[in-house]
Amino acid sequence: AMDIQKLRAQSGLITYDPGYANTGSCSSNITFIDGEKGILRYRGYDIDELAERCNFLDVAYLLVHGFLPKKDERAAFSELMNQHSMLHEGMRHFYDLFPDHAHPMATLSAMAVTLSTFYPELESHPNEAIDIMVTRLLSKVRTIAAFTYKKMKGQPIVYPRPDLSYCENFLNMMFYTPVNGYKPDPVITRALNQLLILHADHEQNCSSSVVKSVGSSGANLYASISAGICALWGPLHGGANQQVIEMLEKIQQEDNGDITRVIDRAKDKDDPFRLMGFGHRVYKTYDPRARVAKAICHKVIDHLGFKDPLLDIAQRLEEAALADRYFKERNLYPNVDFYTGITYRAMGIPTNMFTVMFAIGRLPGWIAQWLEMRDGSEHRIYRPRQLYVGPTQRSVDVNWVK
Ligand code: ACO
Repeated sequence: AMDIQKLRAQSGLITYDPGYANTGSCSSNITFIDGEKGILRYRGYDIDELAERCNFLDVAYLLVHGFLPKKDERAAFSELMNQHSMLHEGMRHFYDLFPDHAHPMATLSAMAVTLSTFYPELESHPNEAIDIMVTRLLSKVRTIAAFTYKKMKGQPIVYPRPDLSYCENFLNMMFYTPVNGYKPDPVITRALNQLLILHADHEQNCSSSVVKSVGSSGANLYASISAGICALWGPLHGGANQQVIEMLEKIQQEDNGDITRVIDRAKDKDDPFRLMGFGHRVYKTYDPRARVAKAICHKVIDHLGFKDPLLDIAQRLEEAALADRYFKERNLYPNVDFYTGITYRAMGIPTNMFTVMFAIGRLPGWIAQWLEMRDGSEHRIYRPRQLYVGPTQRSVDVNWVK
């Protein structure tokens, strides 16, 4: 420790690394990625195995606590989720004030930080309260998201039900109507669990770094998560799943399903257009999540008997890109967002809520990383350096504004 202190005090050397592509900001024992081999593990478990054998709450527990819950812990965690699923009635009034066309990510972020106004007492007892804060967030974000949907649709809000599982509850709050009711569909519930698991953590990505950056100043968990939601919103990050569908729809409508123009545009260096859902900062091979997401997509579409022309376009796009020199040379493969949107669409989730689904999934990862930072010995405020390239010293002209 002494050496590190000394080094910190003495160091005049800084690395210049835009986008921090080669800068490690911390050590972590949560998520392992091998971008060359296409491996992703949470706490040592392969993503495929977790998606196959666990539900989303198990994985949330694993990320936050470091181990998979035993039977009684599993039941207790699920019960806690039920106890904290309701929103303070005061928070409901906020929905009346947002315009109907509000983007659900803006609403989600605003509501996440609003939790700190309705549940502020916990900030003064940080240690005993942290479990409750974590549970509240995990449970209430799902309620917030479903209420946002109901508000967009102009339908009455549906309250959470204690007899339903985490994902069933979400789907029921989204799709129940007094006229049509809602009957949980095990295939859809399973698929949703799996999609959320795929999104649950991805080490030091943009939004997780933001959550930690905000948290590093000592800001509370709700505030940190709210900022992370904003970071996830961007089209180069979580917003990509929405952009993928919009791109596929354009190919269908404007190019009659012909993919060549989009491929050519993606390769054209004078055109800022990128093939959405392709490429990744860390994966230089097929994203292991994309493989699972593709299988889920086929399962859901077959189950619902939903013939989606966008799936056919996506598959042809993938084949064409994988066979193309441009994409090969740059190691550009489908990422997790390429197939998730088509699945969410088949489930009836509107396009502008895809990134909200990503946020619900990523929440345990954000929380686990925030806790790891807060409790770890490396905890320091995030404060990168820069290379100053502006003017050297000058003085204000005596005749300025005369
Ligand atoms: N389409 C066309 N060309 C691409 C694409 C793409 N989707 N992605 C990267 N490239 C090209 C770049 O133009 C660049 O080419 P050049 O070397 O000839 O200039 C080269 O590949 C390297 O790209 P960078 O921008 O340096 O890669 P970076 O690691 O900074 O970006 C990113 C990664 C943002 C994911 C990028 O691949 C991209 O914009 N993809 C599309 C958006 C997307 O799908 N985002 C979701 C990411 S996954 C997630 O958030 C869960």
